[in-house]
Amino acid sequence: MRSHCVTDGMSPAFLGDEAVAAWTASGAPLVDLLRQAHTPGRLTGFRRGGRAAVLVTEPRHVHQVLGLGGDRYVKRSHRARPLLGDGMLTATGEAWRSQRKLLQAMFTGRGIQRWEHHIEGAAACVVDRWAERARRGEPTDIAEDVQFFTVDTIWRSLTDRPLDQETYVDLAAVQDIVAALPADVGGATALPTEVEAAIGALDERMLRALADARVRHRADGAGASVLDRLLDAAGTDPAYTDRLIRDELVTLLVAGYESSARTLTWAFVLLDEHPEIMERAAGDPRAVEAVLSETLRLYPTGWLLPRHSPADETLDGWAIPAGTDLLVCPYLTHRDPEVWPEPETFDPGRFPARSPLPPGAYLPFGIGPRACLGTRFAMREMEVLLGALLARFTVETTGPAGEAVFGINLRPAGPLHARVRERT
Ligand code: HEM
Repeated sequence: MRSHCVTDGMSPAFLGDEAVAAWTASGAPLVDLLRQAHTPGRLTGFRRGGRAAVLVTEPRHVHQVLGLGGDRYVKRSHRARPLLGDGMLTATGEAWRSQRKLLQAMFTGRGIQRWEHHIEGAAACVVDRWAERARRGEPTDIAEDVQFFTVDTIWRSLTDRPLDQETYVDLAAVQDIVAALPADVGGATALPTEVEAAIGALDERMLRALADARVRHRADGAGASVLDRLLDAAGTDPAYTDRLIRDELVTLLVAGYESSARTLTWAFVLLDEHPEIMERAAGDPRAVEAVLSETLRLYPTGWLLPRHSPADETLDGWAIPAGTDLLVCPYLTHRDPEVWPEPETFDPGRFPARSPLPPGAYLPFGIGPRACLGTRFAMREMEVLLGALLARFTVETTGPAGEAVFGINLRPAGPLHARVRERT
């Protein structure tokens, strides 16, 4: 095992200024700088523009920053704020606490059963689409199909209405906005005008959905959707202005469809490389769950979870001066060979883990107070769709293979074309 560092106040090791300057000049993605700085057993980082950033990858450090230190290490000027406003992902302090409390019960425990019929309904649409493709012998784009599914499930849950093609086109434009957001924590926040315009169009769509829901809400009384819950809150809490409801809707849409869609696409990329695992998973729900868990280990879409230390802190003996950014990086943690032997190998047999994993070692949904609200929803929708598709179809992708793009989330580049056939 690595030696546990106990030297009080030891300073993290920072990359030399020349290395940072060379990286800046190269225009390479942030993940390359993180890989350069990463030194197992040490707390390392880099300085840019007078700001210090420390890379957090060791499980016990991750646990201390996100889990135990959830109140001390805070989110700050989130990269997605121009899109998400003051929604739950970006909000902080008391505002965040009460926003989370309002929706928590709908997404945890028995609360998630209310979404089962939406998930089943949306999955049936994709199965029908694939059956049609198989009958006609036409190729399909898996990345697009799973994205339609995840937008459909979240839209049904938000509004109680299935997704129509026109709404889908409007909502799917959000992916261009997400792609244009700075991947970098210290990146500029000024957005290109076409992205500002796309945000404006999305706002219009959301405010229209809100107006429709308000009419129905008044006529039919409280419904069961997320929007109904937000409208109920607006009746008693002046904080729930139309603007905040818009922010919460966009947050749930973006958080709710993007990660699940990309994870499902990654699963097909990996299964295509391992046909024997694909065959084993067909008709076996536990194997499907393991495939998804292992996919999320190799490709956690939330590959970088930035935090900020407003006060001087000590992290496991390392001095963290006030003003330091802490870059928790699940992507690197999930490839730590001390926890994950042969970390680059896709092996769903690792799940469920035979002995408890060290805290902080596996965090595709984050950990601590700011962990993903939609963990159970996401796992359920992905299990239902992947299970249904693998049980009924064989899949042969025709490319292009998904090269990893480390943006604000970790996604496979490009479409994923495939031929699907009914199992005989
Ligand atoms: C595979 C799918 C998903 C993955 C990998 C994922 C991952 C994450 C991660 C890593 C965080 C924590 C971010 C941080 O600590 O900085 C997060 C937060 C969040 N996620 Fe997810 N997510 C997924 C699906 C969903 C779905 C389906 C929903 C909604 C139904 C959702 C709603 C949220 C919300 C609202 C937060 C913010 C929670 C808070 O700050 O209190 N996510 N997600």
